Amino acid sequence: MFNLILFGPPGSGKGTQSDKLVEKYGLVHLSTGNLLREEISQMTPLGIEAKAFMDKGQLVPDEVVIGMVDSYFDKHRGAKGFLFDGFPRTVAQAVALDKLMVKKKTSIAAVVALEVGEDELVKRLLNRGKTSGRSDDTDEIVIRKRFAVYRNDTTPVAVHYRKAGKFTPIVGEGSVDGIFSAICSAVDQHLPS
Ligand code: AP5
Repeated sequence: MFNLILFGPPGSGKGTQSDKLVEKYGLVHLSTGNLLREEISQMTPLGIEAKAFMDKGQLVPDEVVIGMVDSYFDKHRGAKGFLFDGFPRTVAQAVALDKLMVKKKTSIAAVVALEVGEDELVKRLLNRGKTSGRSDDTDEIVIRKRFAVYRNDTTPVAVHYRKAGKFTPIVGEGSVDGIFSAICSAVDQHLPS
């Protein structure tokens, strides 16, 4: 299996680049944000619980997200690999993912982090909010809250993977195709020979 993590703040282009990466490398896309929004649209108990956190720009509790990732992983037995997008977002989630990788006798090959300035991120998210229907994209206060949560809870995850020698930062501003090429160059260095 070949597993990648696409890391970066809200609006950095994880979803955009994930679509291209899963196609190129034949991976299963595991976006915790998308899975949570699916639960919300089906009005499941998990979705109703998650919505209260997401609308405020807060993280959904670790145990909820970790359980969801575990069952998604099990549903896709036989996958060539996974592209994790928006997960892990806390050190507790990163530790849970390490354990899951050991249990499944696989590992994370690389973590690619998209770096984008905050003003550009706000612009992208407010712009997307005009059409996305995402409640967390329309209010700049909620968007700023998401950045604060990213700084406090998610940046320590980068340290976790830096220590493991798996972390590659990439400039996430510029053309989508240019950024995709830079990501692929980083990923290709970790492909099994
Ligand atoms: P999630 O859905 O993961 O959202 P996010 O991390 O906030 O990221 P976004 O989807 O907003 O941005 P992105 O980086 O994917 O960028 P995109 O490609 O869309 O999470 C939402 C919420 O769910 C969280 O706040 C939390 O509550 C909860 N949640 C999710 N996972 C969780 C977890 N693991 N634990 C706990 N809670 C969790 O691009 C953004 C915009 O920019 C688009 O309009 C795009 O077209 C545009 N764009 C992309 N690339 C470029 C470019 N190069 N130039 C110009 N514009 C660009």
